[in-house]
Amino acid sequence: MHKNKICTENSMDEAVKIIKDGGVVAFPTETVYGLGANALNKKAVSKIFVIKKRPLGNPLIVHISDVSELPKLVKHIPKIADILSRKFWPGSLTLVFLKNQLIPDNVVANGDTVAIRIPKNKTALDLIRKSGVPIAAPSANLAGSPSSTTAQHVFDDFGKKVFILDGGACEIGLESTVLDLTSEIPTILRYGDVSFTDLKKEIGKVQIHPSLLEKKQKNSVKTTPKSPGMKYRHYAPKADLLLVEKNKINDLIKKYKKQGKNIGVMTTSELKNNYPEAYVVLSIGSIKTPKIIAKNLFSVLRNFNNFNVDIILSKNFTEKEVGAAIIDRLQRASKKR
Ligand code: TXA
Ligand code: MG
Repeated sequence: MHKNKICTENSMDEAVKIIKDGGVVAFPTETVYGLGANALNKKAVSKIFVIKKRPLGNPLIVHISDVSELPKLVKHIPKIADILSRKFWPGSLTLVFLKNQLIPDNVVANGDTVAIRIPKNKTALDLIRKSGVPIAAPSANLAGSPSSTTAQHVFDDFGKKVFILDGGACEIGLESTVLDLTSEIPTILRYGDVSFTDLKKEIGKVQIHPSLLEKKQKNSVKTTPKSPGMKYRHYAPKADLLLVEKNKINDLIKKYKKQGKNIGVMTTSELKNNYPEAYVVLSIGSIKTPKIIAKNLFSVLRNFNNFNVDIILSKNFTEKEVGAAIIDRLQRASKKR
C-alpha cells in the first residue's frame, strides 16, 4: 500500500505543497476522486493530461471553494447562476460559463467556456482553500476506465505516479451533472446526481443536449456533443459489457459458455441468485435503492477486472428504475449499445 494514502494533517500539508509547486494530487470529492493541479498554471495542468492519457481536446472542470472566486474566472455570471449556485453549491452540479483570460487554454481545450464547481467534500475544500488557487481536475482514472470512487481505485490506475489523499469511499459515486449556461436555454451536457427535474424546479427552463437523447431515438441525426468528453468511450471494464433484456441473460450465458467464454453477470441483489451458470455474479445493490446502485456502479465495474471474465452481462435498466445518470454510465461502458 502506498504510504501517502492516509489522509493525516501531514499528508494534506504535503498535498498543498505539491499543488503550490505545480504538481498533481489525487483527492476525494463527494462524486468521484479528482486528479488535480493548479488551474492557473498551464504547465501543471499539462501534467494531468499526460498522467491520465487524456485527449487534449477534452476540457477539465475547475474546482473552487467559494463563489467569491467565480468572478475572476468567468466573463459574465448570468442571474440563473446565482440561483443555481445558492441551491446546489457546494455540490455535484458543474456550471459552464464564458471563460476569462486568467484560465490557461489547455484547461478548456482551447475553447471559450469553462466548467466550474464547488465540491462538497471537506478534504477537497480544504485542499483548494489551503492551496489558495482553483484546482483543475478530471476524474482520477486512466482515460476510458471507470471513474475512481476510492483511493485504492486511483492507486490501481496510477500506482505511485500520483500523490493520493485518501478520503474513503465517495458519497455519491457518479460524476457531477454538467449544465451549460452559455446557451440560450440552460442545457444539460452530462447527467449526474442533480436531475433534470431538480434543475427545472429551480430555474424553469432546462433542456437536455440532443447527443444525450440520441441513444433513445434510433433514427435521429448525429449531433456533436457540446461536452467534448461525451464523445469518448468511457467507464469501461476490461471485459466487454453487454446490456441485455433480463430474461435473455441465462440463454446468453449458455451460448457464450459453449464458446468457452467466462461470463460475469452484473445484477441487483434481488436477482443475484438467478444465474447459477455464470462464472461470477456481482450485485450493484437493491433496485429499491438507486442511490446505492450509483455509489457502487464504478466499484463493481472495476471489480470485474479482478476476475477472469471475457464478457459481462448486465440487465438493461429503465430510467424509472435507476435514473438517467446510471443508465448513461452503463451505456457508455458497454461496447454494444
Ligand atoms: O464530479 C465530477 O465532475 C468529477 C469531480 C472530480 O469533480 N470530475 C469529472 O471530470 O468528472 P471529467 O473530466 O472526468 O469530466 C468532465 C466533463 C467532461 O465530459 C468534459 O468534456 C466536460 O465535463 N467539460 C469540461 N469543461 C467543459 C466545457 N467548458 N464545456 C463543456 N463541457 C465541459
Ligand atoms: Mg471522467
